[in-house]
Amino acid sequence: MDKERKLIIAGNWKCNKTVAESLALVADLRRELAAVKEVDVVVCPAFTALESVSKAILDSNIRLGAQNMGDNGYGAFTGEIAPGMLKEFSVGYVILGHSERRQFQKESDALIARKAAAAHGANLIPIVCVGETLAEREAGITNPVVETQIKGSLAGLSAEQVERTVIAYEPVWAIGTGKTATSAQAQEVHAFIRGVLVGLHGDAVARRVRIQYGGSVKPNNARELMSQPDVDGALVGGASLEVRSFADIVKNSI
Ligand code: PGA
Repeated sequence: MDKERKLIIAGNWKCNKTVAESLALVADLRRELAAVKEVDVVVCPAFTALESVSKAILDSNIRLGAQNMGDNGYGAFTGEIAPGMLKEFSVGYVILGHSERRQFQKESDALIARKAAAAHGANLIPIVCVGETLAEREAGITNPVVETQIKGSLAGLSAEQVERTVIAYEPVWAIGTGKTATSAQAQEVHAFIRGVLVGLHGDAVARRVRIQYGGSVKPNNARELMSQPDVDGALVGGASLEVRSFADIVKNSI
């Protein structure tokens, strides 16, 4: 597939898998995806498996991501993980503001913006998640909701930092529900997000930002979603927990 931006497909393993299970999955993925060069492939295990997975993907084309991070550095922040701790394990990406954290941990756009700045400060690429709930979509306010999230979560970042940020559009009603946005629905919001980025930092920057779609991405809908001009990859939850489905999503997207 000829795309303006290189696709980035990330597996968000959420709160799943022991270290042994993580190692088994990543060994299989390494084998299955060894020949893939066209797509940036990222796996995001739990914190407890980062060190082991980091060693297991050495010299491979698979990159490592974390699922969250604190907004401060080292210090008296009980229970937090500092950006520097992630760097120790060669983590390259960090998912920020996932809707589950917005919902269960009450993460705000302002907090996510501070985390995104901290990530860039440590040379980590943030994957900043946005997306509307079912009630918001039905009320016809998807665009203003997403616009507020984008502007708030990227507040204070420089144009250069925004350019290197990955955005994940994940409609909350499509996450883990088996309901995928149609490719047309996804494209419409992705194009809208790119328009918001144009307003913030101009056309050249907006054209370089990769916008992933997330929400029940499966092998049988990946190609259609990835073929949309403003869909630059996927953030995959459930289907990333199993080698066959994640490898097929990657392969079907090429
Ligand atoms: P899902 O999750 O693929 O299981 O819908 C996506 C996500 O939450 O990132």
